[in-house]
Amino acid sequence: MRQSVLAVAAVGVVGLLAYVGLAQPYGRPPRPGGPRADAPASSPLPKDDAEKKILDVLDDMDRNQRRGMLNVPKEDGRLLRVLAESVGAKRVVEIGTSNGYSGIWFCLALRQTGGKLYTYEIDAGRAKLARENFKRAGVDELVTIIEGDAHKELPKLKDTVDSVDVVFLDADKDGYIDYLKTILPLVRPGGLILAHNVAQQAGSMKPFLEAITSNKDLETLFVHMQAAGVSVSLKKR
Ligand SMILES: C[S@@+](CC[C@H](N)C(=O)[O-])C[C@H]1O[C@@H](n2cnc3c(N)ncnc32)[C@H](O)[C@@H]1O
Repeated sequence: MRQSVLAVAAVGVVGLLAYVGLAQPYGRPPRPGGPRADAPASSPLPKDDAEKKILDVLDDMDRNQRRGMLNVPKEDGRLLRVLAESVGAKRVVEIGTSNGYSGIWFCLALRQTGGKLYTYEIDAGRAKLARENFKRAGVDELVTIIEGDAHKELPKLKDTVDSVDVVFLDADKDGYIDYLKTILPLVRPGGLILAHNVAQQAGSMKPFLEAITSNKDLETLFVHMQAAGVSVSLKKR
């Protein structure tokens, strides 16, 4: 019952994005020049000291660590948190940890839902930095970093968990289709498959985009909050 309420909330969030014009059909470019100058804007407001500590670390990473880390824009990070918290995610899987920026946004949700993040990174230096960032944000106990090639490591996840609530693809773009095939059977009905850079790098991920837009078990929207673009696919019940 609780899960269905949360899933309805998630669909509501997606519907709201569509209503305010942030969700657009596949193939349509983001609005030139970004959001209208008079569009409403908001900033994250910490509810308590623990949330403030995490947001402060994210701000610091935003200002001082972005170079070479290929992090999602802040607004996309906020979207990841809202979606994960809305579906009451207990298990989030991320492909492409980098220094942990998007992972920490997920952790803002997971500390409320009692969930865990499983995040995959092939680069040892970035994985080390991510470990440090998770620790200083105080969320390291919520996170398992799996170091190595996610194409080889992800198929082993089914031996550890029996279902996944949210998947976020943000690594090698031509590998998205392989990740989707591996993870989709593990995503629970009512779960979400999210993918980054769907507007920017649509060419490299064509088979993935075709797969998420032609599968009747999925409801897929494209949310071009920033030029990169995020796809949001609900695995229907
Ligand atoms: C776009 S960055 C991820 C950014 C991160 N999600 C964030 O917003 O903070 C992509 C990351 O995927 C990693 N990567 C690329 N191919 C990979 C693979 N086959 N397995 C695991 N990680 C991979 C890269 O090393 C890089 O750190």
